Amino acid sequence: MNADSRADSPAASAAIELIHVTKRFGDRVILNDVNLAIARGRTTALLGPSGTGKSTLLRLATGLLAPERGRVKTLGIDVFAASKSEVLALRRRMGMLFQDNALFGSLTVFDNVAFPLRRVARVNETIVRQRVAALLSMVGLPDVGDRTPDRLSGGQRKRIALARAIALEPELVLFDEPTSGLDPQTSASIDQLIRDTQQRLGITFVVITHDVESARLIADDVGMLDNGVVRVFGSRESVWASTDPVVRSFLDRVPVQQ
Ligand SMILES: Nc1ncnc2c1ncn2[C@@H]1O[C@H](COP(=O)(O)OP(=O)(O)OP(=O)(O)O)[C@@H](O)[C@H]1O
Ligand SMILES: [Mg+2]
Repeated sequence: MNADSRADSPAASAAIELIHVTKRFGDRVILNDVNLAIARGRTTALLGPSGTGKSTLLRLATGLLAPERGRVKTLGIDVFAASKSEVLALRRRMGMLFQDNALFGSLTVFDNVAFPLRRVARVNETIVRQRVAALLSMVGLPDVGDRTPDRLSGGQRKRIALARAIALEPELVLFDEPTSGLDPQTSASIDQLIRDTQQRLGITFVVITHDVESARLIADDVGMLDNGVVRVFGSRESVWASTDPVVRSFLDRVPVQQ
């Protein structure tokens, strides 16, 4: 399936839209009047140096943090104008992959992936078994259901976290640094899995990363945050062709003068 054929115009039906968003922590302005529209049905990578507010942006999109100014719309819901029950319903339409995977250490892989199916969707056990088997196959680990996460490699844990994040067939999946802490070859295999999964499901993936190579491999669109602003946003090709010196030095990994 071609992701491009599913893409709508970004402004008309954005997966995540920030409208004049300002977020501060104390005196520090983390996001400064940010406008951004992330398109549905494709993979968008958000790049930027450490501490530029990438994770903060994800937490705004899920309603876990409130902005000082501006509006955040996720899957068409104005997150901070919506009621609590509307935000809970919105979160069920989203999957989240945390940097540390957030797997339950005392549960088997099977029970980790089954968790949202049992606790949130409350589907019967026959369907749970079928769905978990299909999800484990999809992430390339059909035979590890009986293990606990501590008996998996870092890359395998990431695969299981992805299986759990897509178990409820979300419309949008947010990834926070999916390849950090992985060796280069494992990172490349996770990038490939992210790419393949997005193309198979045709849903929206938003991937926060400071891994330039990873963004180049997985993203249809790329944004770069720097110093509280979106320095560049557009198709991967257009961003890679950017002549903005800040963007160039980040993409070309020019060392920062300390
Ligand atoms: N709850 C908080 N209270 C105070 N400061 C915070 C809080 N959360 C984040 N910050 C600060 O806001 C800035 C942006 O944080 P954020 O985690 O969004 O950055 P990031 O771009 O995800 O960085 P990294 O690439 O290192 O994960 C950082 O300087 C961080 O220390
Ligand atoms: Mg972060």
